[in-house]
Amino acid sequence: MLLISLITSPMDILPATLRDLGPLRRIEQACFPKDAWPLLDLIAVLTYPDVVRLKAVLNGQMVGFIAGDLRRSEGVGWIATIAVLPAYRRRGMGRALLRACERQMKTSHFRLCVRAENIEAIKMYEQEGYEQTDIWRGYYNDGGNALVMEKYNPDGEFLC
Ligand SMILES: CC(C)(COP(=O)(O)OP(=O)(O)OC[C@H]1O[C@@H](n2cnc3c(N)ncnc32)[C@H](O)[C@@H]1OP(=O)(O)O)[C@@H](O)C(=O)NCCC(=O)NCCS
Repeated sequence: MLLISLITSPMDILPATLRDLGPLRRIEQACFPKDAWPLLDLIAVLTYPDVVRLKAVLNGQMVGFIAGDLRRSEGVGWIATIAVLPAYRRRGMGRALLRACERQMKTSHFRLCVRAENIEAIKMYEQEGYEQTDIWRGYYNDGGNALVMEKYNPDGEFLC
């Protein structure tokens, strides 16, 4: 019965707030074993102005998160982080979070960086129209490279 309800329950995408700090911390640690943000960064992402922050909720549990940083002077929405708990992946939640965040940012283009070996995320970004524009060598603490990816907003309804 629980399995059936997990498969059939609709997922909600809702604004995230500081009250989501505990679940966000668990998601961060489960999803980024090498690069988990420290607590202060998590508090910042849940409270700073000009950040679109959304959570994916299934059966009352927060199972995913995305934050987009509005860089108005550049006209860029920077996808700062996106993560879905391992047990809930490949159900369209990552894509749904990304699309919802882009819709709310309303910038002329979107940009992000991703570990060069993060094939799952890169495939998702490519499917969603992102293209590699740069590589930052040694960007991560362990010396790993980051790909910079970018997408123009096809909606044409820009705030900046
Ligand atoms: C990247 C991530 C958010 C994707 O979440 P998700 O809910 O599984 O994504 P979706 O189900 O919406 O899948 C979207 C697309 O991503 C790609 N993808 C996701 N997981 C994949 C995998 N294991 N293998 C290959 N492609 C994959 C596919 O193209 C997929 O589309 P499809 O299912 O139609 O083929 C998730 O894998 C994650 O949390 N990873 C750890 C954190 C992370 O690396 N974040 C990105 C930081 S830049």
